[in-house]
Order: sequence, then structure tokens, then C-alpha cells
Amino acid sequence: AQTLTLLGIESSCDDTAAAVVRLAEGRGTVLASVVAGQTDLHAAFGGVVPELAARAHTEKLDLCVEQALAQAGLGLTDLDGVAVTAGPGLIGGVMAGVMCAKGLAAGAGLPLVGVNHLAGHALTPRLTDGLEFPYLMLLVSGGHCQFLLVRGAEAFTRLGGTIDDAPGEAFDKTAKLLALPQPGGPAVETEAALGDPRRFAFPRPLLDRPGCDMSFSGLKTALLRARDGVMADGALRRQDRADLCAGFQAAVSAVLAEKSRRALADYLALAPADPVFAVAGGVAANRAIRAALEDVAARAGARFVAPPLALCTDNAAMIAWAGIERFRLGHRDGMSLSARPRWPL
Ligand code: KG4
Ligand code: ZN
Repeated sequence: AQTLTLLGIESSCDDTAAAVVRLAEGRGTVLASVVAGQTDLHAAFGGVVPELAARAHTEKLDLCVEQALAQAGLGLTDLDGVAVTAGPGLIGGVMAGVMCAKGLAAGAGLPLVGVNHLAGHALTPRLTDGLEFPYLMLLVSGGHCQFLLVRGAEAFTRLGGTIDDAPGEAFDKTAKLLALPQPGGPAVETEAALGDPRRFAFPRPLLDRPGCDMSFSGLKTALLRARDGVMADGALRRQDRADLCAGFQAAVSAVLAEKSRRALADYLALAPADPVFAVAGGVAANRAIRAALEDVAARAGARFVAPPLALCTDNAAMIAWAGIERFRLGHRDGMSLSARPRWPL
């Protein structure tokens, strides 16, 4: 069997990452994975500032690559290629990564493979759990929300997704409205555990419409209105806050669960031999949401697979692995590889 060792580079949002992944005897192994976040850099601005992100990527990429190679105990000459996120994402950051990868590939005489960031997320369960095609994937994070039918390393069908905000973004905005710390997901989840999910009736957007599309921006407006309704003298009581969080989380959870049920029905129509519902992204860390999704999978007779969180959130191991998958199919990108801010799967 083929043995391949690739360096992966990721810089499409606010994480600078490098990793080394090896394929041996048909299985992938993460030899090293380094992620340098930029949370502090953007904290004061209430969101990622593209120019600041790009500059920070440029400053940190070399060091991340050096650290990843050192962790793996390998040199550039031990590699079979370099994989890099070529999009979609913030153009300055993607360009910084692509330029770094080109420099390394050209300098060491290695082949270069451009990877779609979403394909990286979608193929991760093949690295962690050795999944066979086809499987259903729900990608649910601060920046993404979509159902993907993964039929092959380069064959994806988008069954539906958010038409506005991603759920993670909604959790973050909710936290902001309720004066909870960022990232909002974990903070809202903690509060929600102490609240009554039935006290506030939050909308379940798009449930009345067929298909797997979702919408989360209206929830934020509903939350703001409910908050203002219970706030006295600009202050929010602890129990009110907990009930608001619980209601919000229940709404997100209900929408994701119902749309997952529909996506699973579409997927099961393909009659897969070993039906699998896989999730990835930071929001999949939420215990209530995860339990709801597990329940939907169990009812449909599908196995539920969630990669470890470090490989669910943005990282470069998923890019190295997706690079290996492309490499295996014979794909190589030359020095003409360009950064694509928009790149649908
Ligand atoms: O995948 P990720 O690390 O980054 C990208 O968005 O690409 O996801 C981060 C998002 C944030 O919006 C964060 O608030 C959310 O995932 N998140 C959660 C939880 N943990 C992280 N949302 C809900 N519940 C959680 N426990
Ligand atoms: Zn991502």
C-alpha cells in the first residue's frame, strides 16, 4: 500500500495552522498539528479584522510550519508534498498561506496541492474514523452551516444550509446581547443548563418550508426583544438570562435536529451499506445539540460520528488529509495555484 506524508497549511480565517499527516496501510495518522489562534488580536473589534488576520498569518506561518515539522521529527525532504487551503476564506489570509506553501514546495522540490477548506472539514471523519463513502456530514460552526453528502474525495452534494448566519455566530451574538463572554457557545451552554427552555417561545425558522435550508438571524432579533421585555433598569436577572439561553439553545437544537432528519432521509435513499451521520465544527461540541443529533441518527438507523474537537474546529491536519486524498487521485497544482475567496464545493 501507498505511504504518503504531507504538510498541511491553513490560514483562511483567524487560525494559523500547520500539520503533518501520514497515510500508511490505508489509514491516516496525525504526526503533528499546530494551531495558533488570533482571538486576543481581534477581541477589541468584536469580530475578525481581515487585514490584521492576514498580517498575523504572515508573521506566524513559518513558525507554525517549523513547529509542526519538529513535532513530527521530520524535515522537508521527508515529505511527499505540501497541501494548502486555497479557499474559501478571507483573501489576505488565504494568499499568505498559498504563498508560504508555494515557497516551501518550490524550495524543496515538492508537489503542491490546493485544498478547499470545506472539503477539509468534510473529509476529516475519514482521517479519524476511516469512514467509507457515501456519508452525510453536518458542518456546523461559527462560519459554516451546511449538510453535505460526501460521495467521494472530490464529490460533494450540498443538501442545504443556512441562508444567513451560522449557528455559532448566533451563539456568539446571543452571548454578546446577554453580556456573556466570547466565544459565546460554551458560555450560553453553561447558562442554558440552569434555565427553563419553555419559558420563552423562540421561533423555529424555516421548519414550515420543505428542504434542508436553515435561518438563524431571526432568532437573534427574537432574543433581543425577549431580553428587553424582562430587563429592568438595564439589568438582567440571573434566572432570566438562564431562561433566555435555554430557550435560544432549544430553538437552534430543534431546527438542526429537524433539518438533519430530512437530510438523513435524502441520504438513506442512496441505500448506503453502513449509514453514517457525521458532524464537524465548533457547535457540535454543544452537549444538548449533540444529544439531539445523536437521537436523530439513532432513529434513522445511522451511526453517529464526531471527530475529536481539535480536528472539528479549524486546523491544518484536515488540510493535509484532504491533500492526501487529492494526491491519491493524482491531482497536483503547479505554481499557478491561486487563492479563491469564494469556492463552493
Ligand atoms: O469550528 P469553530 O472553532 O470555528 C469556525 O467557526 O470556523 O467554531 C467556533 C464556533 C463559535 O461560534 C463558538 O461559539 C461555537 O463554535 N461553539 C459552540 C460551543 N462551543 C463552540 N456553540 C455552541 N455550544 C458550544 N458548546
Ligand atoms: Zn472552518
